[in-house]
Amino acid sequence: MHMTHFDAELFLRDYWQKRPLLIRNPWKEWHNPLEPDELAGLSCEEGVESRLITCGPDTLAMESGPLPEDRFATLGDSPWTLLVQAVDHHVPEVAELIEAFRFIPNWRIDDVMVSYATDGSGVGSHYDQYDVFLVQGLGKRRWRVGPICDANTPLLPHEDLRLIADFDASDEWILEPGDILYLPPCFAHDGVAVGDDCMTYSVGFRAPSRAELVESWCDHQADAMTEEDRYADPDLKTQDNPGEISETAIDRLHHMVMEALSDRTAFARWFGLHNSLPKYADADWQPEESIESDEAQAMLTEGVPLVRNPASRFSFIRQEGAVLLFVDGACFECSREIAALAMEICARPLVVVDEALSTSETAIALITSLINQGSLAFEGEEG
Ligand code: SIN
Ligand code: CO
Repeated sequence: MHMTHFDAELFLRDYWQKRPLLIRNPWKEWHNPLEPDELAGLSCEEGVESRLITCGPDTLAMESGPLPEDRFATLGDSPWTLLVQAVDHHVPEVAELIEAFRFIPNWRIDDVMVSYATDGSGVGSHYDQYDVFLVQGLGKRRWRVGPICDANTPLLPHEDLRLIADFDASDEWILEPGDILYLPPCFAHDGVAVGDDCMTYSVGFRAPSRAELVESWCDHQADAMTEEDRYADPDLKTQDNPGEISETAIDRLHHMVMEALSDRTAFARWFGLHNSLPKYADADWQPEESIESDEAQAMLTEGVPLVRNPASRFSFIRQEGAVLLFVDGACFECSREIAALAMEICARPLVVVDEALSTSETAIALITSLINQGSLAFEGEEG
């Protein structure tokens, strides 16, 4: 599914990370990629993150999945919403939705959350820390969008949900199948189903917080340091007051820290790897028996396309004459013809490997490793 009436460059210039945008059905032909029953089924599975929100007379209640299979039969008449995280990891048709948003780099993409709501239900007014495209899949939803929030925005007291206390919407739209609402981070929003069978697909993005980056990068660098690598002052001089931490000492301490953290080459490799770590451990494509390189070569010679595991995270960084390919927490140094192959795999969810490469030992080794770690498969042999 691709969007026909949509200008990505204009969108990035005028809206991305700046302001909300309502995009009326831009698809050539819209069809809802998932049945409500299949979503309910997923929410009962172990290893799938899901939530059920029920609307009581004065407040919302939240239950975390996996839900018991008979839970839906006991819900009664009060409105409810089911939310399932990372549905794209399990349903290729939902993963395909992301292809329309590939003008945003892979590393910024998080996953597709899918909600199912009965008439009048929603998850309450809230704000998120991430950009999102809310694609209306089935039925209708009224979205009210409000001001930018932050840590000082008053919230209602609630054990599980961060609900905004006084929500003043500045825009209101009813979305129908195929319509998309883009929201930058921190914009207050509230979506309520208008009629039953309301399904919304949230194509969500990620942006690391500075705290998260600093903490993980420091941890990573610290792991490689020895006990002996520590402050030293063989040049110590007498000082008037033993209570003073001298300027020289502070300079030296500060330098120790900054020097250890400022290695850009190491940072690039670490970040690529760190960002490629899978969010959920399941949706595993790892073959029961590892494939051998001659099997891979035979398939490549036949021209069998390679398919990316939709749960896998593929990205690369350029280095002089080579690229570093990051896939699911593994790093592959790819030079010459393999660099082009690595970039090709990052660019598309399905790749037919150039015939000339089907005899290249390094290409075969790379593909074999990616298949054996469950990130890639020959078409027809997925999962
Ligand atoms: C929903 O789909 O019901 C909620 C999505 C959101 O508000 O982020
Ligand atoms: Co939200």
